[in-house]
Amino acid sequence: MRKTTNFNKDWYFILEDNPTFSGQEADENSFRKLNLPHDWSVDYAPQENEKTGGGGGYAKSGIGWYRKHFTMERPAEKEKIYLYFEGIYMDSTVYVNGKEAGGYGYGYTSFYVDVTKLVREGENLVAVRVKNDLVPNSRWYSGSGIYRDVYLVRTNEIHFDHFGVRCATNGIYPKQDTALLQIRAQVVNDGSTAENVGVLHKIYDRDGKLVSTSGIALYLEPGESSDCMVRPTVEAPHLWTDEDPYLYTLVSTVVADGRELDSFTCKTGIRTAVFDADRGFLLNGGTVKIKGMCVHHDCGLTGAVGYRESWERRLKELKDMGCNGIRCSHNPPAPVLLDLCDELGFLVMDEAFDEWLLAKNKTDNYYSESLAYGSSMFFTNHAKEDLTAMLRRDYNHPSVVIWSIGNEIPEQSSVDGVKILKFLQDICHQEDSSRMVTSACDNIAAVEPIRTLREFENALDVVGYNYVGRWRERAETFYEEDRKEYPERRMIGTENPSAGGIRGDYSQEGWFGNYATATLHHEALWRYTASHDFVSGDYLWTGIDYLGETRWPRRGAPCGPLDTAGFRKDTFYYFRSIWNTKEITLHLAPQWNFEGQEGVYKQVICYTNCEEVKLYINGRYVGSRGYQCPRYGAVRAWNEGFHKCSTTNDLHLSWDVAYEPGVLRAEGFRNGELVAVDEVCTTGKMAGLSADVVNTEISEGSLVQIELSARDEEGRFVPDACPMISCQVEGPARLVGMDAGDLLDLSLYSSPGRRMFNGLLLAAVMVEGKGEVRVTFASEDGAAETVTFRAE
Ligand code: GAL
Repeated sequence: MRKTTNFNKDWYFILEDNPTFSGQEADENSFRKLNLPHDWSVDYAPQENEKTGGGGGYAKSGIGWYRKHFTMERPAEKEKIYLYFEGIYMDSTVYVNGKEAGGYGYGYTSFYVDVTKLVREGENLVAVRVKNDLVPNSRWYSGSGIYRDVYLVRTNEIHFDHFGVRCATNGIYPKQDTALLQIRAQVVNDGSTAENVGVLHKIYDRDGKLVSTSGIALYLEPGESSDCMVRPTVEAPHLWTDEDPYLYTLVSTVVADGRELDSFTCKTGIRTAVFDADRGFLLNGGTVKIKGMCVHHDCGLTGAVGYRESWERRLKELKDMGCNGIRCSHNPPAPVLLDLCDELGFLVMDEAFDEWLLAKNKTDNYYSESLAYGSSMFFTNHAKEDLTAMLRRDYNHPSVVIWSIGNEIPEQSSVDGVKILKFLQDICHQEDSSRMVTSACDNIAAVEPIRTLREFENALDVVGYNYVGRWRERAETFYEEDRKEYPERRMIGTENPSAGGIRGDYSQEGWFGNYATATLHHEALWRYTASHDFVSGDYLWTGIDYLGETRWPRRGAPCGPLDTAGFRKDTFYYFRSIWNTKEITLHLAPQWNFEGQEGVYKQVICYTNCEEVKLYINGRYVGSRGYQCPRYGAVRAWNEGFHKCSTTNDLHLSWDVAYEPGVLRAEGFRNGELVAVDEVCTTGKMAGLSADVVNTEISEGSLVQIELSARDEEGRFVPDACPMISCQVEGPARLVGMDAGDLLDLSLYSSPGRRMFNGLLLAAVMVEGKGEVRVTFASEDGAAETVTFRAE
């Protein structure tokens, strides 16, 4: 019987290196007690002189040690015991009772350590050294330490190999009423006698009904590892799609003499996913346009630690926006992210590397160290191991529809690069015959000598285009030339410009463009992508602002429609208006508090999927606008009646309006009927706060997220309020941190005071017991609000 125990609690940590820390004799007095997951970089405010540089978000690096004392009952007969680390950044060494037991270089790989021979009945010690001192080693904020979950796994010496059960859909026949699956299981005999075993697979639907049983017998010599496959069917399968992400549960067991030796359970989905040169991405045989976003792994205020609740809130926002794809740039993600993508319906590009043999530049300064370190340090000796670990761990996720072996790999323009590509792609094909492989190329059609080699492009299952309009005349023609030259080529936009900017910032200049032009790049590209089936879709850079890849004095990069706190920028509504075709979007920008600028013309922008919008200021009609580009609901057939001439080719509407205080009102029409209204108005000063708890269920261990907003006397949202807010938590919980998405705020996320930014602030509270929790917020000018909730 397999027993998996969460191993996150009660660790000791120190940011210091000393060889004695591996053994019992170490003095733990100067260590800090904490629970995992933990990112030590986020425990410090960014500093300009940190060697991680702008790339790494000016984060603290170094060498740290974690220690945990634990008690074991007597190991059972024929038992195997493992520690499972989902991710340590980076270069870790694990010691058990003073002896080296394992470890891992690449900071994003999940790995097992076999501790069977090292643990004993009674008191035990595990110590982990984490070496993140060779910096800069990342182009984005990596975090440091044991930043993902840890588990203790106990099972029989005859057991499934790690990530050893892999289930795929072979086909859906005919007329979608039978699915043929393929389940491979790798079983290992670590014992000293030969054994006859049975491998059983059962599949249950969402209501717990058994829908398929299959099995196979195996004879295992001592020390043997054997692969076995069954091909069961499921009748009338409920298929997994991005719009209806239906999940089954697979339960696999190894049995001998009527006894269960090992078991494995996972969620899985029934679906086929292929890329086609003419029809683009095909899910269950039908074209689905990928409307995807790239994300890095950080979660803002918790740094590299990505709690389920944080990802759930962020992903649900992206889903509401109409996004249906996530690219895990540029490394294997936390398992919980993929679980959520399965549950919420995202088409995932799972990516292994940002570097192969050649390191990339990590900072603005071309000094040698910025090119010395990075994941390339591990590539020569561990590329196969790292890639295989990702392929096996993530195999069962229906959300994963394509593997990516690299992002903007410099070797794309060299003959050696073609060899490495084939080596990596072959590993993917051997491990998984059900998914295609890409690599994100940024230099297709670039100038020599950096141009991607044709051989490199043509060797890929699916050619990944980063910034397709970047080189030469492609700014207007995008994929056109390549389509003509290589009609057989499968194509996906692995990375293209998203629409970001600073939330609530309506100054007309600035580094990151202004609000009125923020979406233009994407509008041009989307008109092409949407109207050409052979382009499978896009993953845009990025869905959410992220830490790192920045310049002082900023801590992150504002590339997404959501800020680091997960709040919506105006551009969120741009994507929603074109991608979420189920709901009506009508959104006006900017805000309307421009005291002292009376008479100054402001560009009023509207993101909408209404056919026509009428704008009014203080009740006076300003004008009406509509669309011309083919889009949902915007164009009528000649024989259905024609009611309004379109006025623009863009995917947004705009008016120039002289500022006067009051109310700007947009009325949206479909079929001549008023279907939506949006108003922005000049508000009073902030007079109060309003707080919303995001979580619906709260228990011990929940990360509770609270969204705080500024209100005026009349309860209206105040979009330019930026007061200091303090937070106090009472009851069985503690403040984890606050974030308002302002990348210029370099203060510690975990401090009990933070400045609100343009009317909003997010607080995250960790529940540490049962009972009532009270969270009180107070602003520097006297407004206060309290929320209470019960942890069950
Ligand atoms: C891309 C790269 C990303 C990020 C982005 C910034 O070229 O793949 O990792 O650096 O540029 O705009």
